[in-house]
Amino acid sequence: MIDYHRLAGPLLRLLPPEAAHGMTIRALAAGLVPVSREPDDPILACRLWGRSFANPLGLAAGFDKDAEVADAMLALGFGFVEVGTVTPRPQPGNPGPRLFRLKEDEAIINRLGFNSAGQDIVVRRLRRRRQAASGASGVTGVNISMNADSADPIADYISGVRAFAGLADYLVINVSSPNTPGLRELQDRGRLAGLLAQVQAALAAAKPSDTPPLVLKIAPDLTPDERRDIAGIALERAVDGLIVTNTTTARPEGLKSRRRGEPGGLSGRPLLPLATEVLSDMYRLTGGGMPLVGVGGVASGRDAYAKIRAGATLVQLYTALVYQGSGLIARIKRELAAHLRADGFTAVAQAVGADHR
Ligand SMILES: Cc1cc2nc3c(=O)[nH]c(=O)nc-3n(C[C@H](O)[C@H](O)[C@H](O)COP(=O)(O)O)c2cc1C
Repeated sequence: MIDYHRLAGPLLRLLPPEAAHGMTIRALAAGLVPVSREPDDPILACRLWGRSFANPLGLAAGFDKDAEVADAMLALGFGFVEVGTVTPRPQPGNPGPRLFRLKEDEAIINRLGFNSAGQDIVVRRLRRRRQAASGASGVTGVNISMNADSADPIADYISGVRAFAGLADYLVINVSSPNTPGLRELQDRGRLAGLLAQVQAALAAAKPSDTPPLVLKIAPDLTPDERRDIAGIALERAVDGLIVTNTTTARPEGLKSRRRGEPGGLSGRPLLPLATEVLSDMYRLTGGGMPLVGVGGVASGRDAYAKIRAGATLVQLYTALVYQGSGLIARIKRELAAHLRADGFTAVAQAVGADHR
């Protein structure tokens, strides 16, 4: 496989981060990233929500916000891809600059604020893709949220649920991005229970032929009480899973990059300990019965394996891709398979939550 990152990475890093991301999306959409994909090691195969995953490693939300390159990313070896966040109406997001590389820390700070083409365009793209059905096989989730100027946040989520009910392999209710004022408050006890009840009612009313699982994506910046409340509500409402976690507004000790003071959500290596700690806590608080997707700072097979042992059924990443390029995907899968075998497991599912036993 040609290592696109080794060829183009140094050039892309000379560009401002958002321009580099735009170029990457255009290259992927144009099919300029050659792939020759080997079948995944069978030890990596997973089943969740009645769906098959060739491997548990997924692309986190925010990379392919407008569903332009889902097939290209699956062809690079991800077991699943999450498009979005999609807002009901198109919106530009926050003024720039709003995306910062913290190179010395292998981290990113973003305050994009849901730049989105809006759900009509994304629906059209996903429909066309489904009709063509030419894409690499793989699970595609859709992550939805509200417009920044929304007068009725719950109505925005309901609108997203109706739009994507028949198109998403799973639906993510994102209440955890730090860059839309008021959004994270939807994680509060009373508001979350109400939101989930209404969204579930809308999904049931939409009657898609194959109802997608409904998953909640949460922040890492939650107090122990907030974590307990969210676990309780997730169990009570019988949501199908939690994605743990989004970016953090905290700035862990020891950040070296000069951009560390920029406002926004921090992702990448410095997020790993906090995100894994919250993941482990949510596993414990939900009694190990709720599917969890572990995300935040994964940059190696060892990190992915740690998420699984802490309680993740699936794992996602974004930031490490910016620093290591697409070769990272095959590397993580190889290392993960080796870790599983070294500990005597014959399937990913056997290792889920192993640290709690
Ligand atoms: C540039 C950028 C944009 C993001 N946009 C979204 C988004 O639109 N919706 C969302 O739920 N998460 C978004 N995220 C968060 C990621 O999905 C992920 O939860 C977080 O970055 C932690 O994973 P990582 O350390 O592997 O990057 C974004 C992250 C980055 C770096």
